[in-house]
Amino acid sequence: MSDFNFPKSDLEMLCEPLDAFPPYIYKAKFDFKFENIRDKVDTFLNDVAIIKEEHGLGDPENDGGISSVHYAHADKYEYENHRFGLPYTWPEFKEYYNFLQYVMGSISSEWGYDPNWQRQIEESWINVHPPGAWTGEHHHQNAMFATTAYLSKPKNSGEFLVRNPLEIYKKGEPTHPDYWNMQRYWAPIDVDTNDILIFPGWVTHKTQKNHSEENRYILSSNVIPMRTIDKSSQ
Ligand SMILES: [Fe+2]
Repeated sequence: MSDFNFPKSDLEMLCEPLDAFPPYIYKAKFDFKFENIRDKVDTFLNDVAIIKEEHGLGDPENDGGISSVHYAHADKYEYENHRFGLPYTWPEFKEYYNFLQYVMGSISSEWGYDPNWQRQIEESWINVHPPGAWTGEHHHQNAMFATTAYLSKPKNSGEFLVRNPLEIYKKGEPTHPDYWNMQRYWAPIDVDTNDILIFPGWVTHKTQKNHSEENRYILSSNVIPMRTIDKSSQ
């Protein structure tokens, strides 16, 4: 047990925190009206749970969490894609993906990407976390944008945890041993229903356990850049 509790200071009253660079995580909002699509989502996830069991598929989900990410890889295995298709093709999410493209265009400029590059949805999936379930540590390889939209985020159903991307530099700072013992290189980002998190795929993350009595649902998408070599179109 720790004997050092990192006491809060009055620092924020004394000075203003500054960062010369844009954030690497953005939060937006979109009204998914989840109750209108809950039955469809449950059917989709119940079906993938059967496939996961039959084919012994692994994913970062723990203690009852189910991910439809396996349908994104149906071409590599001996099962068919779902009759509903991948979530980014669902008419119920059309407006959301249009909005997401618009937001990603603006973030592209901030991050020094060319906003005119085509941003292609490379993978899309839905996760459900029943009470007690959680997503383990992972990143989204090769994704220009990783996105997570909270279709339903009940109170106390666990927050999004980010691993400090500057962790390696903390090893060269006069960091108290309890920084490591208490795993302070993990920090929560509070999220609510209809929140969307947008971050680069290299950001390592996981979730807290769902401590509520209800399911937590998210819609996730990976986005990759597509550039043309045809100069006449640039
Ligand atoms: Fe993720």
